[in-house]
Amino acid sequence: MVNITVFLSQSLIQDDMVLKDRNVVVIDVLRASSTILTALVNGAKEIIPAESVSVAARISKGLGNSILCGERNGKVIEGFKMGNSPFEYTPEVIAGKILIFSTTNGTLSITKSKYAKNCVIAGFLNLTAVANYLAELDEDFTIICSGKLNDFCIEDAVAAGMLIAKLTELKGKSNYQLLDSGYISYKLAKLLGYKNTKPDTNKIFNILKDSEHGKYLTSLGFGDDMKYCSELDVYDKLPFYKNNVIKLKETFEAEATEKSKMKRVNISNKLHLGNKE
Ligand code: MLT
Repeated sequence: MVNITVFLSQSLIQDDMVLKDRNVVVIDVLRASSTILTALVNGAKEIIPAESVSVAARISKGLGNSILCGERNGKVIEGFKMGNSPFEYTPEVIAGKILIFSTTNGTLSITKSKYAKNCVIAGFLNLTAVANYLAELDEDFTIICSGKLNDFCIEDAVAAGMLIAKLTELKGKSNYQLLDSGYISYKLAKLLGYKNTKPDTNKIFNILKDSEHGKYLTSLGFGDDMKYCSELDVYDKLPFYKNNVIKLKETFEAEATEKSKMKRVNISNKLHLGNKE
């Protein structure tokens, strides 16, 4: 039996140790999760999440090849080069760069997960990829819905519910145990868009467009972001947060393979040298 814990706002996590050694899924549909995924798919070298503007500025000092990115209240932070719209993160701008990224809620959820066993970042854009990963993992996990300004937001709760619904389809309802927050997310997803085993993408778009944050972003001129962030399963990719950086899971794996190859070469060189001496 897999236990699913859901925090309906990142502000409910008061102590980072709560997430120690847990499998964590961070959701911030509008827009941090969606932007992080887009940036990595478009070739960003890595993303360093920062919990505050001052921490981001400190990290960037002396770090070449990096760009300060993020938002407060949806707008580009003063002195930063890029905001938080996924459309800004084109390969021409960010390929090969280190992005130092600070957002109002999303990067708080991520940095609070620094002691997690595994931390994956999810949105509608990679919902099935995350569900498949969790189904295979088959261990207890915690979903953090980043929320809005220390409070609940509907789009993250619906994404959490759809993830749970997808998992119950893959592994059966009896494989999962939900507390009230998970149960309400699941029921909300069923009610608002997850019908007959397939989510209705138009409904997802309407939820995002009509949400409190969606309306606010539209008022700032980011109406197109809602359409983009509501697209389902565009990417079969998993952004992972590990050792204070975010990279795609496959990048972490390739680096680990390369490292162990180098280690083997070093050992064999040493043995070779030893035989000669
Ligand atoms: C956040 O982290 O609060 C969001 O990603 C805000 C935004 O829409 O830029």
